[in-house]
Amino acid sequence: MLIKIKRRSDILPSEITPPDVYEARRRFLRLGAGGMMTAAGLAALWPAAARANAKLPNVTKGPFSTREELTPYESVTVYNNFYEFGTDKEDPARLAASLKPRPWQVAIDGEVAKPGVYDVDDLIRLHVLQERVYRLRCVEAWSMVIPWVGRPLSEVIKRFEPTSRAKYLRFETLLDPQQFPGQRRRVLDWPYVEGLRIDEALHPLTLLAVGLYGEVLPNQNGAPIRLVVPWKYGFKSIKSIVKISLTEQQPLTSWAKSGPNEYGFYANVNPQVDHPRWSQARERRIGDLFKRDTAMFNGYADEVARLYAGMDLKKFF
Ligand code: MTE
Repeated sequence: MLIKIKRRSDILPSEITPPDVYEARRRFLRLGAGGMMTAAGLAALWPAAARANAKLPNVTKGPFSTREELTPYESVTVYNNFYEFGTDKEDPARLAASLKPRPWQVAIDGEVAKPGVYDVDDLIRLHVLQERVYRLRCVEAWSMVIPWVGRPLSEVIKRFEPTSRAKYLRFETLLDPQQFPGQRRRVLDWPYVEGLRIDEALHPLTLLAVGLYGEVLPNQNGAPIRLVVPWKYGFKSIKSIVKISLTEQQPLTSWAKSGPNEYGFYANVNPQVDHPRWSQARERRIGDLFKRDTAMFNGYADEVARLYAGMDLKKFF
């Protein structure tokens, strides 16, 4: 692996810490040194920290990280699937400035004792962010290795006290053709909707991400908050979430609606079940010349296979 050492002249203006971010970081350190930090103190840090490319403070290493070589930041942020901006891989990075990730609210409703509408900065607390390096396997048979920053979804959801009737989670992306030019074309039935069974949602691998590479999530990667479900095809990892509903019935998801024979609700990475139009046995890791074999559950079988014990995974694809 070639490691590029940056010379002073290589540093982009955008990499130089703006004074307000620097000041917020200093405040953060001062508060941290005192050992106590109030929720209000944390929230006050966000306006500076919420700027794309701002470093996220106080990120600890989380569990489940792979030691595989990381996909370069440049590939993670310019080769994207985010149809709200267009269907070409470069469209999201090119057009993402129209998305305004602050202020941003997320509604939690349905089968919970404590529904409500929350500011994204109250939903995700800065002091408990973890870095998790996960493989992401796209249904289009390419993959990446990405250092996400976020919190387990389970920790966030449990605060709203799911009722005994909550069997599934339904996630919705923002609907706003002003911010998402791709929504002016009916490529999908907008807004983008995804879903998980509740045990999948509460599994410790399932992450709500607010950053990558130690920085605030770039718009093209789903700012300000997105899902990451590493044992499932990438389309389950819904971006720019505005609503999470706990439901009794399995939700109808965007891709299952547009192509029920091609995209199942479970969408577990499975090299033995081909997509009707191509094989899923192998994949191309972005940056590699040669393809590699795809692993069952994207290599997370030890962690998640038990969730599907006794299920016919050809039927429930
Ligand atoms: N979420 C929304 N709202 N819209 C999308 O088009 N694409 C999905 C998923 N989440 C998509 C989305 C697909 S197909 C993939 S592979 C991943 O996002 C890609 O995430 P990345 O661009 O951050 O690598």
